[in-house]
Amino acid sequence: MQRERWGNRVVFLLAAIGSAAGLGNAWRFPYITYKYGGGAFLIPYFVALLTAGIPLLILEFSIGQKNQLGAPSALGKIRKNFQAIGWWTTLTAFFIVAYYVGVMGWIWNYIWGSFTVAWGSDAATFFTEKVLQVSEGPGTLGGFSLPVLIGVVLTWIAIYFILRRGTKSVGKVIWVTVLLPIVLLVILLFRAVTLPGAIEGINFYLQPDFSQIFHLDVWIAAYSQIFFTLSIAMGIMIAYASYMPKDTDIVNNALITVFANSGVSFLAGFTVFGILGYMAKTQGVPIAELATEGPGLAFIAYPEAINMLPGGPVIAGFFGVIFFLTLLMLGIDSAFSLVESNIAAFADKWQLNKQKTTVTVIIVLFLASLLFTTRGGLHWLDIMDYYLNHYALLLGGLLQCLAIGWFYRPEKLREYFNPISDFQVGRWWNVMVKWVIPLVVLFLLGNNFYRNVFVAPYGGYESKYLWLGGWGLLLLMAVLSIIFAAIKDKSLNSVDSKKANL
Ligand code: PFF
Repeated sequence: MQRERWGNRVVFLLAAIGSAAGLGNAWRFPYITYKYGGGAFLIPYFVALLTAGIPLLILEFSIGQKNQLGAPSALGKIRKNFQAIGWWTTLTAFFIVAYYVGVMGWIWNYIWGSFTVAWGSDAATFFTEKVLQVSEGPGTLGGFSLPVLIGVVLTWIAIYFILRRGTKSVGKVIWVTVLLPIVLLVILLFRAVTLPGAIEGINFYLQPDFSQIFHLDVWIAAYSQIFFTLSIAMGIMIAYASYMPKDTDIVNNALITVFANSGVSFLAGFTVFGILGYMAKTQGVPIAELATEGPGLAFIAYPEAINMLPGGPVIAGFFGVIFFLTLLMLGIDSAFSLVESNIAAFADKWQLNKQKTTVTVIIVLFLASLLFTTRGGLHWLDIMDYYLNHYALLLGGLLQCLAIGWFYRPEKLREYFNPISDFQVGRWWNVMVKWVIPLVVLFLLGNNFYRNVFVAPYGGYESKYLWLGGWGLLLLMAVLSIIFAAIKDKSLNSVDSKKANL
């Protein structure tokens, strides 16, 4: 049976870069860099990239490309028991995208809100009361927030059309969704650096504080950021690589993906801090007071900055649209890559028709994402985001490394990817997969667990909600992974003969 293919290598690379470069690059990287030592943070960041990011990406590309299957089946082909690990990563993607589209839903509101600068002088109230209509806690779902619901429906329609014809349709939109945000970020950067205070902002962001690199926290932040930003341990890169011919250069692909993704992060950092510098100067407050991350940065601080741009409401609206369009483009290709990981997993295990699987997965995910369109949705988003990123993602990466490092032999994979790659990877790669990544990740997991269990529960939520949206969710994922892996695979032969009859 002929597997579907990316049109060419560039398309594959764009898809991989599009998946990696997401909201995390725009709203997480700049703040983390500033917080953990500015320019000096780049040292742990690059060490983490070299010792964990690049080796893991090479690992995932190899597994996908060699076995020509989605994560569960590809891992299961290496060893039957590994299939459960693939399901774990697939389910991680499932739950992440369920809330990620919620954020995409907010972004739509800001795109059309920009035309009238709808947030007016109070961006915080607009965000929490007009768009999200946030309830008092996770215990109160409080019905739907219509603006978010509309945004989420639009996002799913977009995802459906993009994924409808698999690699063919993805291969077309990827040019826009990957390249447009880069162009828009450059436009925003030009606007930023020509404003008073921007240079101070950028200096503030990158000013190296070398004393920081001796702090453990900084290293933890660097490794966590690398895991988050590269879209690894979510079955995505395995699925994407499975649509490439078996003899495509793997090491180069991994290096290009990694450096392009970091490039987007740096670019976003300059833009964000350029604008914050201008804001600080205009308001006469220290930049440190304005620097935030996540939704607070994108949906409150940035709209406020847009208000302050010289040139009146039309200019403000214009830059508003540009900024939120950038976020939409950055986010959408990460979102559909998370969905594709699921489609590939189910279609490959049960040899299902890809288009029907696409529709089914999207409908199920749409229903799951409805939770995040309720007024209580933000609280659940916060809890699930925390647990999935601090546990599910890391555990998936750990299990993949342990499986390959200890029960398969990394050397065997190296013997596969080196001959087909230009750039030769030395034995150090085996050491990373077998020892370094597992030890670092075990440490990160232990540290998170210690903090959450013995220091303070996450976010100050009541434990029943943390059990439901956090620990319980992880438990559910584990049970489902084992069940899915235990169900008998549809044998390839029977499908071949069925296909032959068609
Ligand atoms: N790598 C993408 C980003 O940085 O936004 C996609 C992503 C990764 C989204 C992990 C969410 C997530 F938890």
